[in-house]
Amino acid sequence: MKIGILTGGGDCPGLNPAIRGFVMKSLDYGHDVYAIREGWRGLVKGITDDNPLTVNDVDELIYRGGTALRSSRTNPYKDPAQLEAVKENIKKFGLDAIGAFGGEDTLGVASKLFKDGFNTVGVPKTMDNDLSETDYTFGFDSAVSVNVDAVDRLRDTARSHMRVIVLEVMGRHAGWVALYSAIAGGADAVLLPEIPFDADALCEQVKRAYARKKFAIVVASEGVEFPKQEGEVATLDAFGHVNLSNRDVGATVAGIIEEKTGLETRSAVTGHIQRGGAPTAFDRVLASRLGIRAAQCVHEGDYGKMVAIKGTEIVTAPIELAVGTLKTIPVEFYETLTTLFNK
Ligand code: F6P
Repeated sequence: MKIGILTGGGDCPGLNPAIRGFVMKSLDYGHDVYAIREGWRGLVKGITDDNPLTVNDVDELIYRGGTALRSSRTNPYKDPAQLEAVKENIKKFGLDAIGAFGGEDTLGVASKLFKDGFNTVGVPKTMDNDLSETDYTFGFDSAVSVNVDAVDRLRDTARSHMRVIVLEVMGRHAGWVALYSAIAGGADAVLLPEIPFDADALCEQVKRAYARKKFAIVVASEGVEFPKQEGEVATLDAFGHVNLSNRDVGATVAGIIEEKTGLETRSAVTGHIQRGGAPTAFDRVLASRLGIRAAQCVHEGDYGKMVAIKGTEIVTAPIELAVGTLKTIPVEFYETLTTLFNK
């Protein structure tokens, strides 16, 4: 078989080990895997390699962050001409199947192409951990590890200077990264997109922690919802997602805390640092297993599926189901953990 692979959306640690697993398993079956560069844009513009990937091309990817295939946030279904180009190029390159590695957007395109008669298989990735039908996505554990390291460092300064420090983390509209970073970092308060923002309750929590130990740490998800400001304009990407980086959530929360409590407060943002660097061992193993399983799906002609982890098992689910609803934090799940933030 002639198989194309691409990575779309935001990069995250684990993509490279997943590519490696997929290629290694496909080579075992005797298939050729061709790199499609820059996500779906690669199929719009015809950016593919002339030669198939070899073991040597992928072997050293196990510890490398980012994606060796390069990425873009391209949505060919927004533009009929782009979609036509994608379909033409799949035929022109003679691709029997496509392995699409991405989050809800990239996999959403894979799902639509499958419905349009093309053979696609999805591999879930996103540091946000917000894809349905899978317990975890690779990139998440690595991002949380970066944040925990950041919290450990920030608490040294917070303790030394008797300050409150707010760390803003990514996660878009799901608070998984914030919640896990806050738990593992031993933060005193966490702000999630799933829980309505309550400035008074937050300040009470901060004051309580501060009274006890003379510093406090708050982890805030970039997706926290504040009451809408007059004239606030959102910028959208090709998939219609709001760009959250210019909302300055961390600085805004720090300002509110300082004003309401009188405590000296600073903020920090880990931003794209969360998306770079070597994947954790957990993400390397998860990504390798998912890549292998996706190659198996292609070999068996099990198309329109996304590979996933449920418990400790690697399973498959229709891509359509995975991209249908965002996996956010159930409020009951958060409530079982609030004891950690209320001392
Ligand atoms: O979806 C992954 C993610 O890292 C989000 O957490 C964040 O909001 C967004 O991507 C940032 O995107 P960009 O790299 O385009 O700024």
